[in-house]
Amino acid sequence: KISANTSDDFVTCIQSYNNSDGSIYTPENSSFSTLLQSMVQNFRAQTEAPLKPIAILTPSHETEMQAAIHCSKIFGLQIRVRSGGHDFEGLSYLSHVPFVIINLVNLRSISIDTEKKTAWVEAGAILGELYHAIAMKSPTLAFPTGTCPTIGVGGHFSGGGFGMMSRKFALSADHVIDAKIISYEGQVLDRKSMGEDLFWAIRGGGGGSFGIVTSWKIELVTVPETVTVFNVSRTLDDDTAELVHKWQYVAPKLDENLFIRIFIDGINGTVHTSFKSLFIGGANDLLNIMQKSFPELGLTKADCVEMTWIESVLYMANYPRGESIDVLLNREYAGTYFKVKSDFVTHPISVDGLEGLFEMLQEEDLPYYAGLQFSPYGGKMEEISESSLPFPHRAGIVFMIETALMWSEADTVNADRYMSWINNYYKYMTTYVSKSPRRAYVNYRDLDLGVNKYTKSSTSNYMEAKKWGMQYFNNNFQRLVHVKSKVDPTNFFRHEQSIPPF
Ligand code: FDA
Repeated sequence: KISANTSDDFVTCIQSYNNSDGSIYTPENSSFSTLLQSMVQNFRAQTEAPLKPIAILTPSHETEMQAAIHCSKIFGLQIRVRSGGHDFEGLSYLSHVPFVIINLVNLRSISIDTEKKTAWVEAGAILGELYHAIAMKSPTLAFPTGTCPTIGVGGHFSGGGFGMMSRKFALSADHVIDAKIISYEGQVLDRKSMGEDLFWAIRGGGGGSFGIVTSWKIELVTVPETVTVFNVSRTLDDDTAELVHKWQYVAPKLDENLFIRIFIDGINGTVHTSFKSLFIGGANDLLNIMQKSFPELGLTKADCVEMTWIESVLYMANYPRGESIDVLLNREYAGTYFKVKSDFVTHPISVDGLEGLFEMLQEEDLPYYAGLQFSPYGGKMEEISESSLPFPHRAGIVFMIETALMWSEADTVNADRYMSWINNYYKYMTTYVSKSPRRAYVNYRDLDLGVNKYTKSSTSNYMEAKKWGMQYFNNNFQRLVHVKSKVDPTNFFRHEQSIPPF
């Protein structure tokens, strides 16, 4: 029962559980606010959820999380687990009901077995720490993940993990071979003891639904000593729509070592496109492929830069050439106000459709960043079956779109206008993207798709959740609900878009 003393009572409960002396911070502690704000990515989401957690725990050991589960049940509190804090809607640190945060900042160890090409990574580690640890061991081992080094592995692997090597190696989650998770009953389970259903669900079913993942075992991938990158930019001219149109036919069919992502940005009324690429191989081979398959881009040798894989990680994260890889250990990344939407395209968008999109991005009063990322599919992504993991977007997808608007604190007065731009954009795109369901990527969380509405009837909860559940997981949603019903029937681990039990 929540009262003015709940924070204190909760702390007493935690301290008395198994003599647990884990680090607990309440609003009375001077470092509470700093801890709450650290690694917060989306200030927009924060302005929309007024409640602060009654406590933040930074456990170093499983017993402290068991204590948190035990005491949260007693006081009817929700638990929000935070690894890297990159959730687009802030679900790892925000809630509309009384809650506590379990911040995994003290669970970050990474141990790599170069012979077996495997690693155990604790869930609080960020991608940059994982990349760094791999690079310290070998120049030819790597791991396929997203591009932003400050993302946490806890949330990222839970939802999939798509990046510049996905055409060659698919998702991070496709390379998870074991995991440790704490269940709603406080049991510590590994792959063997959790069983294959739950192990399937936690690799793509989204964070926050099934328990607290404390570590992942992953299989590393092998890359050559030299990879090649390029970034070719264009300002909008008569040929840009044709070029992007052609890319849709070419990029998903290229050699799987080659990933060419397009960024389309609207800046002060002008549209800029850039073709940013990673090729897992040398520049000469890349040029041969490009001259044969995509000469329209006009790639030259001068555009191509050869480097090691770890240098390419820094390049994709926009660090200058020559930057020390130690920057990957920096966990802080300046947050901002933003809204993101995702889509999957199953048939190339017409030139007219693309021109309409450019027109929208040419509007004068957009915020400091308004942009789309087109990420090509094909290669390994389409070889893996739709039901292999909860992430269902595999064969038949031409490319994925991530659309983002970002604005500064000074611009928050225009937030409603920006939100209405992105909603209009989303309507406009209906014609051009996947249908029935209109697909979305759970790691690009979007609460506009729908949220859990808990009523007494589990049937109506399920029917409500099915709307967005099908968008994220398509036919895998049913199996996720089935697993949830089995492993967390009381729906202890829940948030606005967690998988509901039936
Ligand atoms: P965070 O800590 O916010 O957790 C996200 C969700 O998972 C929350 O619901 C949380 O409770 C839950 N969770 C976290 N840790 C858990 C654990 N140990 N056990 C159980 N549940 C847990 N994605 C992508 O695929 N490719 C990309 O290139 C990018 N790029 C990118 C850039 C930037 C700047 C941002 C902000 C985000 C991305 N993403 C992305 C999206 C990213 O993959 C997604 O937001 C992840 O869920 C973030 O994981 P974190 O651990 O950082 O988030």
